[in-house]
Amino acid sequence: MSAKIISGTETAKAIREELKTEVTELKEKYNVVPGLVTILVGDNPASQSYVAAKNKTAHALGIHSEQVTVPGDISEDDLLALVDKYNNDDKIHGILVQLPLPGHINEAKVLFAIDPDKDVDGFHPVNIGKMMLGEQCFLPCTPHGILELLQRSGVETSGAEVVVVGRSNIVGKPIANLMLQKRAGGNATVTLCHTRTRDMDFHTRRADILIVAAGVPKMIKGDQVKEGVVVIDVGVNRIGKSESGKAILAGDVDFDSVKEKAAAITPVPGGVGPMTITMLMKNTVQAARQSLDNKE
Ligand SMILES: NC(=O)c1ccc[n+]([C@@H]2O[C@H](COP(=O)([O-])OP(=O)(O)OC[C@H]3O[C@@H](n4cnc5c(N)ncnc54)[C@H](OP(=O)(O)O)[C@@H]3O)[C@@H](O)[C@H]2O)c1
Repeated sequence: MSAKIISGTETAKAIREELKTEVTELKEKYNVVPGLVTILVGDNPASQSYVAAKNKTAHALGIHSEQVTVPGDISEDDLLALVDKYNNDDKIHGILVQLPLPGHINEAKVLFAIDPDKDVDGFHPVNIGKMMLGEQCFLPCTPHGILELLQRSGVETSGAEVVVVGRSNIVGKPIANLMLQKRAGGNATVTLCHTRTRDMDFHTRRADILIVAAGVPKMIKGDQVKEGVVVIDVGVNRIGKSESGKAILAGDVDFDSVKEKAAAITPVPGGVGPMTITMLMKNTVQAARQSLDNKE
């Protein structure tokens, strides 16, 4: 069997079209333009390119987007003051502080300072708590993108054995939690694996849906999965450079061997990656819509 490819590029494109319509409607009916600010501290090249991609996507969808770059030696107090300025700016519905932050700044303190109603990254404890409880909130973008990919590809999650490899706060823990919520797109039986898991192959081999977010290139091989599994590969690993100097990317899954057994699989690139930015845009539009509700 050769797997069906679950294309994040195509799914993201479809969601972006829906968002464009929603942005137009917000403007025409309510005179509201969703606004996003991205705050970049320092000059980390990877962060610069992530922030640039976010701004470009926002512009393409008609979202008002501001990019603020501050020096890497900014004090924690000054950064907190900047966040507070945007907490009180009515044009801005979503605030994103690009991670990682320099070592002298307490990352948690900065993330917790963002107004939860503008926390479009979904990292504030209020949103994480609401997510755990199954309440309406901003979902963290990568897990949110995985949910959309599964749902829009028609993958049945109810009763499925879902195995997640990786327990980070931004991917593994939230996606495990979302998959077990008692609602459509959830209702799975979830196992969460990490570096202390005994006999990981035992778990990966019984997965109906395998979600891998470990940051180890091509770690999961064909002999570690069962026939018919649906595989979501979150990993983005730079494994070299092409002759033209472009980074060569690999996922956490050995695509070539796993695709021979899987029913469906996400590629890298073109899988989860494009969904993450799109979900940031979706959360920003949601924030703008909620700001209207708060005014009523
Ligand atoms: N496509 C996207 O939009 C997107 C978004 C976010 C992340 N990513 C990618 O996804 C990957 C994971 O990112 P992250 O931030 O979630 O990772 P992270 O914070 O580095 O966490 C990695 C997790 O994987 C576990 N792990 C590592 N090696 C393992 C092994 N050999 N066996 C079992 N578990 C193992 C670790 O276990 P311990 O907790 O025991 O150390 C940890 O929980 C990276 O490649 C990252 O670039 C992609």
